[in-house]
This record gives sequence, structure tokens and C-alpha cells, in this order.
Amino acid sequence: MSTYSTPVLTTQRLMLRPLAATDARALYTVFSDPAVVRYWSAEPWTDISSAETAIARALEAYRDETELRFAIELAASREVIGTVNLHHFFNQNNRCELGYAIASRHWGHGYASEAIEAVLEHGFNAVGLNRVEADIDPRNEASGRVLEKLGFRREGFMPQRWRVHGEYADTAFYGLLRAYWDERKAA
Ligand SMILES: CC(C)(COP(=O)(O)OP(=O)(O)OC[C@H]1O[C@@H](n2cnc3c(N)ncnc32)[C@H](O)[C@@H]1OP(=O)(O)O)[C@@H](O)C(=O)NCCC(=O)NCCS
Repeated sequence: MSTYSTPVLTTQRLMLRPLAATDARALYTVFSDPAVVRYWSAEPWTDISSAETAIARALEAYRDETELRFAIELAASREVIGTVNLHHFFNQNNRCELGYAIASRHWGHGYASEAIEAVLEHGFNAVGLNRVEADIDPRNEASGRVLEKLGFRREGFMPQRWRVHGEYADTAFYGLLRAYWDERKAA
């Protein structure tokens, strides 16, 4: 069976590293914000214990090497501004899913694109992935833009797949193949 461990990755402005118990407050700031979970089938967190539970799950995943989960830290200030993860690995198919979120006060500075690029580079080159998938709400234009900038292609549309804050919401389904990634890097 393949295992998936979470390394430390660095980019020009960011450090991506495994989550730690001390990140609970920063994580709570991100996910208690209704703007961040606007398109998610989960309510904003209202108690710090949700952050502690999420971190406990991440620590379990690190121990079992089942997922890659990163805190996104600003290199200059050491502030944790979000998370990015690769999860739901299908070993036999070298495939997994991508998730990400950035604290709303840091939107629009290219941090998501910079963080995800580093994680994908690691995923394709070190982990040996062949395909990464993302399921987003088609109304989430910033998220779609991030994916398209990184070379993801929109592959499908599934109506009313989720129930999001009391209403049915659609899926725009995106995929990125290693071949697209290599092509983009070579261009
Ligand atoms: C999606 C998200 C991660 C983007 O983070 P970010 O750090 O602001 O992203 P970046 O700055 O790297 O890129 C955002 C891009 O979207 C564009 N954008 C932002 N708002 C937009 C909108 N309403 N319509 C179209 N494009 C938009 C930006 O201009 C930028 O593109 P550009 O580089 O061509 O100018 C952030 O908005 C977020 O955390 N949202 C909540 C959680 C979420 O939706 N996660 C993903 C789905 S599961």
C-alpha cells in the first residue's frame, strides 16, 4: 500500500507545513468566517473545538500517512493564513482530490495559487500522482480561476449535488493530469 506523508514545502512567500495543535486559533479564524464556507456544505465554525477536532484528524492522517494536509504560513510573519490538502487517494489509479481555503482578509494576493502550485509540484513529482480532481461550486469564480490558472480543465457539471446552507448547489468538476502539468511547465 502507498503511504502519503506531509513534508515542509517552501515558496517565494510561503511555508507549507504539517498542522500542529498550536494552529487551532488560526484555523478557527479561517473557518468561522461565513465568507470562507459560503460554497461549502458545512456551516461556519462557532467554537474553537471544531478547529481542535480538525487538527486531531490531521495528526491522525500524518500518523497513518493517508493524506497530505498543509498549514499555509506567511514566511515573513509566520501567520497561518489557510490550508491546502490532497486527500481521497486512490492508490491503484495515482489519483486524489484537492482542497484549499485562505482567510478572507488575505484573498486576492495570489497566495492560493502559489500554495497549490507547490503542492501539485510535490504531488506529481514526489508522490507520483497522475491525476488530481477538484469539485467546486460553479458560483465560486475565484476558485475556478485559481484552478484554471494552474492548468485544471473543467470536465463536468453535476446539478444539485450538494445541499449548501439550506439550498441545493451544483458541482463544477475539474481535473488536472500530469500530462497537462508537464506541458504547462515546458511551455
Ligand atoms: C478560492 C480562494 C482559495 C482563492 O484564494 P486567493 O488567495 O484569493 O487566490 P489567488 O489570489 O491565488 O487567485 C484568485 C484569482 O481569482 C480571481 N478572482 C477573485 N474573485 C473573483 C471573482 N469574483 N470572479 C472572477 N475571478 C475572481 C482573482 O483576480 C485571481 O485571478 P488573477 O490572478 O487572474 O487575477 C479563496 O477565495 C477562498 O479561500 N475561498 C473560500 C474557500 C474556497 O472556496 N475553497 C475552494 C473551494 S473548495
